[in-house]
Amino acid sequence: MNYHVLTLFPEMIDRAAHTSILGRALKNGCIHLETTNIRDYSADKHMRVDDYPYGGGAGMVIEAEPLYRAYSAVKNKIGHKPRTIYLTPQAKVLNQTMVEELALEEDLVMICGHYEGIDERVLDEVVTDYISIGDYVLTGGELGAMVLIDAVSRFVPGVLSNEESAQFESLQDNLLEYPHYTRPEIWHEKKVPEILLSGDHKKIEEWRHERSIERTKERRPDLLRQSMKVHCAFYGKDALREMAGKLCQTLSQYGEVIDFNRKKLRKQKYYFDSQDLVVLLADEQFEKDAGVPETFTNIYGKDTPCFIFWSDSFVHGIESEQTKQTDKIQRLLDKRGFLIKKIYPLSTIESSCKETALEIRKI
Ligand SMILES: C[S@@+](CC[C@H](N)C(=O)[O-])C[C@H]1O[C@@H](n2cnc3c(N)ncnc32)[C@H](O)[C@@H]1O
Repeated sequence: MNYHVLTLFPEMIDRAAHTSILGRALKNGCIHLETTNIRDYSADKHMRVDDYPYGGGAGMVIEAEPLYRAYSAVKNKIGHKPRTIYLTPQAKVLNQTMVEELALEEDLVMICGHYEGIDERVLDEVVTDYISIGDYVLTGGELGAMVLIDAVSRFVPGVLSNEESAQFESLQDNLLEYPHYTRPEIWHEKKVPEILLSGDHKKIEEWRHERSIERTKERRPDLLRQSMKVHCAFYGKDALREMAGKLCQTLSQYGEVIDFNRKKLRKQKYYFDSQDLVVLLADEQFEKDAGVPETFTNIYGKDTPCFIFWSDSFVHGIESEQTKQTDKIQRLLDKRGFLIKKIYPLSTIESSCKETALEIRKI
């Protein structure tokens, strides 16, 4: 990951970035950081980059031209129009899904404003994303850029060691993380919860999930309303089990995989509501078995968002028996209260599981 920060105060970024985990990542080359001083691109002999706002009013505005020149220099180095973020309070507030999505880029350009802001015309030309780090106003965009660099870097391979791993954490499921404890076992007469000493991993997992829900309910009820329980149901060859597992794990720490190859599970009735997210996966085997009448028919939703992964031939087949089949199943799911959000070819899990999971999480 290459970060390029356009700023009037490069030392603010350089100092902060060269410490702790980010400092280590910069040293071992997992991430690269280049700061560009916008002032170096001023055409003014006094190196001025700001001027009074048209229409009057307090404060100064950063001029379009020096920023455009600084940006063009970076763009030429990268070799194409890069993802360019303007840190501003006038934007959607950064969240974990946005962070993970940005981490998929190779280059990120960040523009830090100062004073009253930046001439709108240059922003219109170069910015691809407007991002705020919170609903308050800072003196400059540098701290915002640092927040972004820190959060995004955690998802860049090699930045975190195994112990620091970012795989599952607060906010992945729109749930806050469970409480943590370390030695000693008793501190200020407070004992570590017994279950954590039991060695029973399944029970510990359940306890942690319960504590996560409880904590989110208490501290961030707004997040809990956006939290979805993920269910990935599949019918098909063995490889599909692995795909369903991979997708389910990428979507949620607490998701469940339902194996519809098992007749007993197919016969069972499943009821979902709007806080459930249902993902159905079926391959050519499903096609061969003519849709196995009872598969996906014992599931009932209630405004339940649903994503479908069919075999590629199902998705791409035109005016054939296959399309008739898929139409029939879609109509059935529709009648059963499912909101079909998107149908993907199965190969997307192999080729871009993470990107697809992020797209699904955005619903
Ligand atoms: C004093 S602020 C300008 C605020 C501007 N007049 C407004 O009302 O939107 C100066 C710079 O700080 C940065 N900034 C301020 N608050 C921010 C926030 N919440 N998130 C990200 N960047 C912020 C922006 O780059 C902005 O150009």
